[in-house]
Amino acid sequence: MSGDIPSTRSGRSSQLKQQAAERAVEFVKSGMVVGLGYGSTAMFAVRRIAQLLHEGQLQDILGVPCSLQIEAEARRLGIPLTTLDEHPVVDVTIDGADEVDPDLNLIKGGGGALLREKIVAQASRREIIVVDESKLSPALGTRWPVPVEIVPFGWRSQAAYLESLGAQPVLRLSSNGTPFTTDQGNLILDCDFGPISQPAQLAARLSERAGIVEHGLFLGLATDVIVASMEEVRHLKRGGEHNGHN
Ligand code: A5P
Repeated sequence: MSGDIPSTRSGRSSQLKQQAAERAVEFVKSGMVVGLGYGSTAMFAVRRIAQLLHEGQLQDILGVPCSLQIEAEARRLGIPLTTLDEHPVVDVTIDGADEVDPDLNLIKGGGGALLREKIVAQASRREIIVVDESKLSPALGTRWPVPVEIVPFGWRSQAAYLESLGAQPVLRLSSNGTPFTTDQGNLILDCDFGPISQPAQLAARLSERAGIVEHGLFLGLATDVIVASMEEVRHLKRGGEHNGHN
């Protein structure tokens, strides 16, 4: 994992990501304030929005980027941007995820943008998550560690706290071997808890600790999940029929 914008490399997985992202963009309408998520899947949505704007099929879109890198990319693509200060409510956000459970709870933060992603998600009327089917999981933590963003001051103390909760925290490094730093200048500990039976309880324990800025458990935030597989593109909705994938 790194903070680089993931490449939209060719291949099956890439095609599925693109299909999911482009289906989600169908929910973006002219005049909307749109949260621009981060990661290789969300990037397909950003590119599609830019394309529709250039073709005139979408107008008056204002984007709220979830990371500095996506902000730079959106500017390069000509998407008009705004901030939550100017527009505190976002109509729809399209973002990726690292893991999705059957209740549409998520692990996010593989790209390191979890704090801004969660701020934008909580400000959004609709949070559409776009994934390929490899992200579906019977329980959060089965396939992915929980990223935990911590302030550098006293970080080893937070690592010890996370160990006491049952995790094996690993300090995230950049590709050059130095500690990865977030857009806020913080560190990330990737915490393998194994399958998490009570994510809400764990989220509460993480939130109560000083020095932990945010964690990658996104509980009850996704309103929709678009899942692309080789067979079909499925649209799962919060509160819809049972999403019994595993
Ligand atoms: C970014 O911080 C993450 O939350 C991403 O949304 C997540 O890692 C999914 O990324 P991909 O779409 O590249 O798999």
